[in-house]
Amino acid sequence: MTYESVKGMRDILPDEIAYWTKLEAAIRDIARRFGYSEIRPPIVEHTELFSRGIGEATDVVNKEMYTFPDKKGRSLTLRPEATASVVRSYVEHGMATQDPFQKLFYIGPMFRYEKPQKGRSRQFHQYGVEAIGSLDPALDVEVIAVAWSLMHALGLGGLSLRLNSIGCAGDREHYRDVLRAHFAPNIASMCKDCQRRYDENPLRILDCKERTCRPYINDAPGTSDHLCADCAKHFAAVRAHLDRLGLSYVIDPHLVRGLDYYTRTVFELVSSDLGAQDALLGGGRYDSLVGMLGGPETPGVGFAGGMERLILVLSEKEADLAGSRIDLFLAALGEEGWDIAIGLMNELRRTGLSVDVDYRRRSLRKQLALANKLGARHLIVLGDEEATKKRARIKEMDSGEERDIELDAAAIAAAV
Ligand code: HAM
Repeated sequence: MTYESVKGMRDILPDEIAYWTKLEAAIRDIARRFGYSEIRPPIVEHTELFSRGIGEATDVVNKEMYTFPDKKGRSLTLRPEATASVVRSYVEHGMATQDPFQKLFYIGPMFRYEKPQKGRSRQFHQYGVEAIGSLDPALDVEVIAVAWSLMHALGLGGLSLRLNSIGCAGDREHYRDVLRAHFAPNIASMCKDCQRRYDENPLRILDCKERTCRPYINDAPGTSDHLCADCAKHFAAVRAHLDRLGLSYVIDPHLVRGLDYYTRTVFELVSSDLGAQDALLGGGRYDSLVGMLGGPETPGVGFAGGMERLILVLSEKEADLAGSRIDLFLAALGEEGWDIAIGLMNELRRTGLSVDVDYRRRSLRKQLALANKLGARHLIVLGDEEATKKRARIKEMDSGEERDIELDAAAIAAAV
């Protein structure tokens, strides 16, 4: 009997790990530059955190959560996203009262029971930032600048930032009525989900991907015509800051995002290399979430991006990133050569070099093939003659140049 990984959840294998480490390093570097500290909340939370935080009417809560009872019958859920967890942590650890302005980032696995397809899986990884404790529109723009800086550091072009404001709770109440009035004549021809959304929260209709529903959605009124004076002012300030920083964006009056906690600014970064509906990252303001999760009324703004999607785009651009290279491969022939190789390898590894041998002790041809596979920058062949003379040839693999060298760790380390 053999086993397969669970549908929609896959192994990240050694030959792709270079993308992951490169991406993680870039995220950590940007976070450091912008002053965000890492937080690592647990993967399992009480279900209620998400049903309250993200919203009962959302697809994430309604259809996509991995929810199960623990041995005492408490309902637990594998986190589908991390904003609710970060806010729970912010409130639970008293940050809300002791040090209310916090800039945090995270990297980790999330779980959503979605239909697996390109760029969409059931276990996926997000990186994200959350800036909690200020209403200033400059902070919305800082968060967007984090996203743009990361894309820039990774050398990614062909991206566009979709931006909108969905206003405050009052604006959304009003906008819901506007949407209901718009959809009312056609709701009977729309999909079952939209009919449910019409009653529960018509904003969610705007996210519907069904072909039958799209025409009614395309001519729906946008949110930005229905903002109160304060929210309109905030949105204008966000746009002005973006213009000042030269960060480009496209206003999308139908962008509402699929989670209920958003207020005011919402945005998504889309890549022309991914399918039309798949965002590389998404985020926005959530000025009521801290209060809703039991903390003092505190505003927040953040975003999260999918690592798999980013790697998909990166891998299409940079085919050569896949493997890392070792500094030196020691090919050994005969017993004496093998003993010297093992001794030198261990000494050289202590100096910080990456060195390898063929533990299967195969033919020279196969050892050289392994050296190539490992991307060895240098090669030394150790046989009886080298053992006797205590000297060998070191070959620089890229140039093919060879020279004579003393079989001594310090001499080899200096040559590598
Ligand atoms: P979200 O839009 O649900 O937002 O997810 C953010 C990103 O995670 C998406 O743009 C996408 O790149 C990735 N993603 C989502 N679902 C999947 C999936 N099934 N497979 C692969 N990638 C996926 C949030 O999660 C919010 N917490 C973002 C946020 C942070 N808002 C404020 N702060």
